[in-house]
Amino acid sequence: MSNFGAMQNEIYMAGTQGILPDYPVDFATLESRAHEALGPMMTNYVAGGCGDENTQDTNASAFHHWGMVPRMMVDCTERDLSIDLFGLKLPSPIFMAPIGVNGEATQDRHGDMAAAKASATTGVPFCASTLSNDPLEDVHDACGETPAFFQLYTPRNRELAESLIKRAEKVGYKAIVVTLDTWLTGWRPRDLNASNFPQLRGKVMQNYFSDPVFRSLLDKPPEEDPKAAILLFAAIFGQVLTWDDMEWFKSVTDLPIVLKGICHPDDARRAVDCGADAVYCSNHGGRQANGGIATIDLLEDVVKASGAVPVLFDSGVRSGTDVVKALAMGARAVGIGRPYTYGLAIGGAEGAAWVLRSILAEADLLMAVNGYPTLERVREAGVQRIV
Ligand SMILES: Cc1cc2nc3c(=O)[nH]c(=O)nc-3n(C[C@H](O)[C@H](O)[C@H](O)COP(=O)(O)O)c2cc1C
Repeated sequence: MSNFGAMQNEIYMAGTQGILPDYPVDFATLESRAHEALGPMMTNYVAGGCGDENTQDTNASAFHHWGMVPRMMVDCTERDLSIDLFGLKLPSPIFMAPIGVNGEATQDRHGDMAAAKASATTGVPFCASTLSNDPLEDVHDACGETPAFFQLYTPRNRELAESLIKRAEKVGYKAIVVTLDTWLTGWRPRDLNASNFPQLRGKVMQNYFSDPVFRSLLDKPPEEDPKAAILLFAAIFGQVLTWDDMEWFKSVTDLPIVLKGICHPDDARRAVDCGADAVYCSNHGGRQANGGIATIDLLEDVVKASGAVPVLFDSGVRSGTDVVKALAMGARAVGIGRPYTYGLAIGGAEGAAWVLRSILAEADLLMAVNGYPTLERVREAGVQRIV
């Protein structure tokens, strides 16, 4: 059983030798240091969201209107935060959500590799995005023994979609996460005002540029004519998916299929009926549509509608406390998004690992204090709406 909370003692003990932590443990400080490291263009892209960003902000603030009630006289000297997912036994209930500009978040522009290394050292699975500065094969290798998932932006070209899935399957990814809410880009004022869309500048294209099907559609290889390759990417990026497409996904791979972007209980039921192996409740961190409802407020209904099918969750998770609340509402696993990318920005693999470890330490210590030694107890305790 992992003792994630022990990180606290490490920090305090180091303090007795005059050593302060290199990285912060709270989100506000992490965010401001990361924005400094990223610079204005990347900060716009990572921190920005859709419209006036109300949905994005509410995703995070809505956690505050849910509270937990502690239980006393329970032996919590040992806590078990492990979960079963797709037949895998994972040491903790969190994973790294797919972030398409991880590659650009580190100084060396290999942020996907750094995220994978953080996954290898922490045991927290990495969901690698289609949009990457390193090919998915290299990223998978860097994850070491920790299982990884591959997130698919389904291209309009079926052969290319199949090629990406097969490559992920071949190299050992454990699930395909199909993102449903991003066949086009939402209205993002910060990026529009700066007229900056990284993909059109040739960033995070390596899964396309290294793909044999993608390359076969070009007159010249991307290394010789990057402009034509980028235009091809733009032309074939986003397939509009409907429920009928599930049959095709199930026919091309034996890997579990996870549907990302489900917020309505009817969609969760439909996903289960169509054979989804997991439902991923997320609104893309408020980047795709404004005018929505915080995902945490929708989670319980999605969990109920999904029955025995596991529900993954993200959007607005900023701390270990948020993680425990989402687990209490029935999420099987909780996705960490912007916080670990900020970790990459301030400290590469080490920074991202620090962020993940801090989140797990806070979750573990909260469970200890609240008298919840297991995730089963967390779920039994549940959360209460405060306002
Ligand atoms: C900069 C950025 C890039 C993202 N890229 C992807 C992506 O490539 N694929 C995807 O499915 N989701 C992507 N997402 C959405 C995340 O997977 C996740 O749903 C979101 O970050 C959760 O919101 P939070 O970071 O505010 O907690 C991205 C999010 C951000 C912030």
